[in-house]
Amino acid sequence: MKTLTINGGKRLNGEIAISGAKNSSMKIIIASILSTEPVLIHNVPYVSDVVTLLQIMRYLGTKITIDGNHTINPSKTIELHSPKIGSEMLDFTMTNRIRTSILMLGPILAKNGYVKLAKPGGCGIGDRKIDLHIMVMKRLGATVIETENFIEATTNGKQLKGTDITFPLVSVGATENAIMASVMADGETILRNVAIEPEIDDLILFLNKLGAQITKIGERELFICGVQHLGATEHSVIPDRIEAATYAVAASMTDGNMILHHCSIKVFDNMIGILSNVGVDIKPFVSKDHIEGVVVMRSNKGFNPIEIQTNPYPHFPTDLQPVLMALLAITKGTSIITENIFEDRMQHVSEFNRLGANIELQGRSAIIRGVDGLCAGTVNGTDLRASAALALCGLVANGIVTLQNAYYIDRGYQNFVRNLVRCGADVVIS
Ligand code: EPU
Repeated sequence: MKTLTINGGKRLNGEIAISGAKNSSMKIIIASILSTEPVLIHNVPYVSDVVTLLQIMRYLGTKITIDGNHTINPSKTIELHSPKIGSEMLDFTMTNRIRTSILMLGPILAKNGYVKLAKPGGCGIGDRKIDLHIMVMKRLGATVIETENFIEATTNGKQLKGTDITFPLVSVGATENAIMASVMADGETILRNVAIEPEIDDLILFLNKLGAQITKIGERELFICGVQHLGATEHSVIPDRIEAATYAVAASMTDGNMILHHCSIKVFDNMIGILSNVGVDIKPFVSKDHIEGVVVMRSNKGFNPIEIQTNPYPHFPTDLQPVLMALLAITKGTSIITENIFEDRMQHVSEFNRLGANIELQGRSAIIRGVDGLCAGTVNGTDLRASAALALCGLVANGIVTLQNAYYIDRGYQNFVRNLVRCGADVVIS
């Protein structure tokens, strides 16, 4: 989808099935490379980033079967089998399409002893360095040659060797690469100052089901005892907390009422306090067939301004920053959001302002002076979450909002427009 035309002002009422987490599925799909046996992964969202990743995996030699005729939950069950996998030729046209391809560095190196892939490059939210990914491979004994466009790594005919690594800063991707590279390394690895997002716990659970030996030994410390072989398993991906929170904010902004299925209240764990403070009510719900969900709506006390910073889990997630900003843009009073994870993740501010928001950027902070309402206009999506947030602005705007570059939304939200329309939104795709 290229452009969304949103005729705002409709309350969103209805039911939505929350998908499996994109940021968990992608890593689990990649981690399946480490096994020579088939693995079955349920609850995989069929978003364009996953589709691209599966194309890359097929290209490298993974056999993939997709089963997707689920009516209640549109997420897919995918069987992946990588008895052999190619080591070379991931060129820029592939790695540039999804940055997550950098996570193939660890597993392919561990499996084949050699890997060459193009550097993924920056994206709409910042430079997105990969120095920590490379540092990890070197510390595990690999020789890594970096050229302007490529990374080439070899174990020099040996196995990767377990070691003790302390990350200088918390990185989701570098933690995941380190885990995947060390599960089959020779000996023991300790990883310190790791990221602890729920999606990382999901990856660890999946790998341990395959036969890995990964243990949490401290809040941000992992102990990994290398194993020789990883087997077959079946795993269901956790619900997508960012997708769930996006719809919770959408229901609240439009003064509607939604039931979100396949997503227990625990999915909101670290976000629920903040969402509740700003005026998003989230209550547990159990369907007739005993599936846990939540009911989301605007609090009867209305919206409140807030001062908040994004930081690694368990703090407020950067991925929800633009979405929260959409709500704060129409919340009376002054709110401040400081973005601490990505240096360039405020590009949407100027787009919000085109719709009548009053947001001023001061360094990495956005000073949001709430306005009574947003107006019609044409805006450009700058990345996945910013585009979803701009769509939410459109849902409450007084007039037609045209959102260009809306394809970003397909990268991470399964059936986004269909879900909104089923809940009463007036959105047309072109
Ligand atoms: N960083 C480095 N060097 C590295 C790696 C990271 O300096 O080698 C820096 C980054 O530049 C950034 C910070 O560390 O400033 C954190 O980056 P991190 O590695 O944690 O992020 P990521 O793994 O690239 C994942 C998610 C992002 C999410 C971030 C933070 C996936 C596929 N992506 O990215 O999700 O924002 O963690 O939680 O899991 C999204 O879903 O829209 C999205 C961007």
